[in-house]
This record gives sequence, structure tokens and C-alpha cells, in this order.
Amino acid sequence: MRRNQTILSEFLLLGLPIQPEHQHAFYALFLAMYLTTVLGNLLIITLIQLDSHLHTPMYSFLSNLSFSDLCFSSVTMPKLLKNMQSQLPSIPYAGCLAQMYFFLFFGDLESFLLVVMAYDRYVAICSPLHYTSIMSPKLCVCLVVLSWVLTTFHALLHTLLMARLSFCGDNVIPHFFCDFSALLNLACSDTHVNELVIFVMGGLVVVIPFLLIIMSYAQIFSSILKFPSVRGIHKAFSTCGSQLSVVSLFYGTVIGLYLCPSANNSTVKETVMSLMYTVVTPMLNPFIYSLRNRDMKGALGRVRHKMKIPFCL
Ligand SMILES: *[C@@H]1O[C@H](CO)[C@@H](O)[C@H](O)[C@H]1NC(C)=O
Repeated sequence: MRRNQTILSEFLLLGLPIQPEHQHAFYALFLAMYLTTVLGNLLIITLIQLDSHLHTPMYSFLSNLSFSDLCFSSVTMPKLLKNMQSQLPSIPYAGCLAQMYFFLFFGDLESFLLVVMAYDRYVAICSPLHYTSIMSPKLCVCLVVLSWVLTTFHALLHTLLMARLSFCGDNVIPHFFCDFSALLNLACSDTHVNELVIFVMGGLVVVIPFLLIIMSYAQIFSSILKFPSVRGIHKAFSTCGSQLSVVSLFYGTVIGLYLCPSANNSTVKETVMSLMYTVVTPMLNPFIYSLRNRDMKGALGRVRHKMKIPFCL
């Protein structure tokens, strides 16, 4: 087969496997989900900045997580919504690499921040007396800066390795964003190095954080079960239980997709799994981590009172 060696200047994003007659309903659904994500996360960031009761390590990490959720869904959703309306859903080569970079960047940031938050809960519950001295403002800033540095390095590594590859012939990406594993399938140069790096780095940035989170929660549960009280158990299960479900949804789908890809994974199943962590988790995080929680409700009341906003939310 003779390959066309001209350099591709754009890709076509096939988008979601949706029947044309359902297109409008899904468009409305995704638009509503995206708006919920943006507004929910913006509300959390604003509340945490405005209310001095929430100037604690836990809430500053939460505000970082909300920021990262907001950006993570903004990397894919606006383009998906625009493509659902357009006849020719194309994306330029540079745009595709940029989307991949920011997708990896905010996805990793999310992963590291979830670890930092689990560690914060672990210190708060397992050594409450030393909490303020361990979680000093300096350590908090260090943890956040470290997350940004690691994630920059990781996203840059994958993007540079991808930029090395040449693409010729097929330019149809059977996905709704420039996913790096979908891009690898289209490359016509050797992708062994990329696959090796995905596997090794994937282990470092996904599996290790996941294990650290599980370990923190295991410690939390065992320390609560040592002195069981109905209130303590109820509190632990109501906060940690819902946090654990989001964590497993995020890591479960990421690990399933990138680290154990099976040959018989249909594109529909893969797309639904990607939707889970690109759309659903950033939307659910604000509600699960905070809006159900009493401090946040109190802050909402105080900020509303201060700014004289009538009850309308
Ligand atoms: C992120 O966390 C750091 C350290 O705790 C804090 O100084 C910063 O304000 C937070 N950023 C956001 C956007 O909340």
C-alpha cells in the first residue's frame, strides 16, 4: 500500500456514537452538564475565597481541585459541543496536540490533588493533635507546587513524544477529543517508545496515587473502628464513602482505559468510559466534596448575608 506522505494539517473528530435523531437531546444534556460543572466549581472557588472560616488546608486543596475540574472539563466539552453542531468536526494538528497537553495536565493535577486531599483527611483524623503543625501553610503550598511541577513534566513528556510522530493517510479520530491512545493508532511511525512511556508513567501517575488514596482511607477507617461511635462511623462513611466512590470512578475508568486496554473494547464502551471521567467526575466532585457539607452551607449563608443576595439558589 502506497502511503501518502504529505503531513496532515488537521484531524477529524468523529465524536460520540449518537444516532442523528438523538443529537439534540444529547446536546442539551451535555450543555447542561458542562454548565453545572462550571457553575458548581466557580461557586466553590468563590465561597472559599470569600469566607474566612474556609481558609484551611482542606478547603484550599478543594479550591485547587475545583479549579482543576473546571479546566479539565473545559478542555474537552466546548469543543465537543461545537462539533456536535458542525458538519465537519475537524481540529487542526496543533490544536489537537494542545488539547492533549491540557487534557493530560489537568487530568494528572486532579489525580495528585485527590492524593493530597486524602492525605490531609488522614492527618486530620489519625493525628488530630498535630494537624496544624503538620499541615502548615508552607507544606500546603509545597504540595500544590509539587503537583503542578510533576503534572507539567508528565504532560510535556507525552506531548513531545507525540509531536515526534508523523501522521499520514488516515486522519479520523474515533473519539470526541484528541485522546493520545487514539492518536497513537493513527501514527505511521514507530510508536513503541510512546507505548512504553504511557505504561511506565501511567503506573507512576495513576496507580501510585490510587494506592496512596486507598491506603489513607484504610488508615482512616481502621482508626475510626478502634473507638467506634455511631456518630463517628456515620460521619466517616458519609464523607469518605462518597469520596471513595468518586475516586474509584475516576481511577477505575482511567486504569481500565489506558493501562489494561483489551482488544475487544468496543469504541462505544470506551467512549462511555471516557465520558465518565471527563464529564461526570468533574461535575460530581463539587457536590460530593463540599456542597453537602455543613461548613460550605454555613459559608454560603454568610456570604449571601454579607452581599445581601436574596435567597434564590
Ligand atoms: C491552591 O492551594 C494553595 C496552597 O494551599 C493556595 O495558596 C491557593 O490559593 C490555592 N489555589 C486556588 C485556586 O484555590
